[in-house]
Amino acid sequence: MVINNITIKKLEKNDINKILQIEKSQNVNILKETVILDDMSNSNNTLYFGAIYNDIIVGYIAITYVIDTIDILSIVTMKNYENVGVATLLLEYIFNFAKKNNVNKIFLEVRTSNTKAINLYEKNNFKLISKRKNYYTDTKEDALIYLKEIKKI
Ligand SMILES: CC(C)(COP(=O)(O)OP(=O)(O)OC[C@H]1O[C@@H](n2cnc3c(N)ncnc32)[C@H](O)[C@@H]1OP(=O)(O)O)[C@@H](O)C(=O)NCCC(=O)NCCS
Repeated sequence: MVINNITIKKLEKNDINKILQIEKSQNVNILKETVILDDMSNSNNTLYFGAIYNDIIVGYIAITYVIDTIDILSIVTMKNYENVGVATLLLEYIFNFAKKNNVNKIFLEVRTSNTKAINLYEKNNFKLISKRKNYYTDTKEDALIYLKEIKKI
């Protein structure tokens, strides 16, 4: 099934609880509340975007954006809205954002065990460029580093 009419909006401080709920639904804790609050309170280079369906935030993506490079810090879809294209839409939004802002490289890192996320990234033409051994302190898992190069319009 594909859900149509999902829109993307920039998330603000009053959306933090929703971000945390989305993470909870997936049993992950990628970004700490204090970090998100700090990012949203100070106009630093970290931006959050949410996928909105029927007034509900069903997924979010966090990026840092510095000069010509974006790093994807986190992308999470609410558990009961998985596999309908929410994360794909969030990525596409970032690809367009990158094109508009003359960003030519998008980096991300992912655990070797996260097959679903890896599939999503590879389908969206991210290329594996390196591996960080024992990167994640909790499981000693390796991190895979992916890069997508954005062609100028
Ligand atoms: C990884 C994650 C973000 C994917 O989110 P998602 O919204 O389910 O992703 P999508 O629906 O866009 O795509 C996922 C799958 O649905 C399929 N899909 C995408 N769009 C589709 C569509 N329009 N119709 C049918 N299937 C579709 C994709 O092909 C993909 O299939 P695959 O698993 O065989 O590769 C989600 O599983 C998640 O939140 N995981 C926990 C957090 C996490 O690990 N985040 C990544 C590291 S920060």
